[in-house]
Amino acid sequence: MRNMTPEDIDEVHGIELSVQAYPWTRGNFIDALKYGYVCCVDEDNGALRGYAIMMPVVDEAELLNISVAAAHQRKGLGKMIIKEMLQKALAMNLKRVYLEVRPSNVAAIALYRRSGFELIGVRRDYYQNANGSEDALVMSCDLSGEANGQA
Ligand SMILES: CC(C)(COP(=O)(O)OP(=O)(O)OC[C@H]1O[C@@H](n2cnc3c(N)ncnc32)[C@H](O)[C@@H]1OP(=O)(O)O)[C@@H](O)C(=O)NCCC(=O)NCCS
Repeated sequence: MRNMTPEDIDEVHGIELSVQAYPWTRGNFIDALKYGYVCCVDEDNGALRGYAIMMPVVDEAELLNISVAAAHQRKGLGKMIIKEMLQKALAMNLKRVYLEVRPSNVAAIALYRRSGFELIGVRRDYYQNANGSEDALVMSCDLSGEANGQA
């Protein structure tokens, strides 16, 4: 993994459009870099395989985006990317990482559970979808557990 640069954005956005049901815009990625969020890419032989974006807020962080290119899914890459993001959060002395996820995104929920996140709440009608709205599940990973090797 390495830090994302502005030169990565076209390739990142191409992956985003191909794997996300509700993709970020190019501008969302430009803003994430501009605001100094933790933006990382996984690169192999000059091609990006995945990326993640995390927003630190005081002593916590929110994992805003994690995506793995379709050809590389189900090979453990998502789990490895989350592990690296949690290690970065730990190195920044953050206490926990939380995220919001659509209940319909079963792959992401399974990945988060396997990566040490637990469900802590539900935000009603948080997302727009084709049927109107959808709840958000709020999940959290306690980094004191991570530090103790429990997660
Ligand atoms: C969610 C996502 C990042 C997972 O990446 P990945 O590299 O395929 O995940 P991994 O191979 O590390 O899988 C780790 C575990 O997550 C779970 N998982 C991953 N994909 C799954 C799927 N399609 N269905 C069910 N469980 C899944 C499994 O428990 C898996 O472990 P296993 O393969 O040993 O059973 C990937 O599917 C993706 O990019 N999805 C589109 C973008 C997205 O929805 N991101 C999350 C919201 S921002």
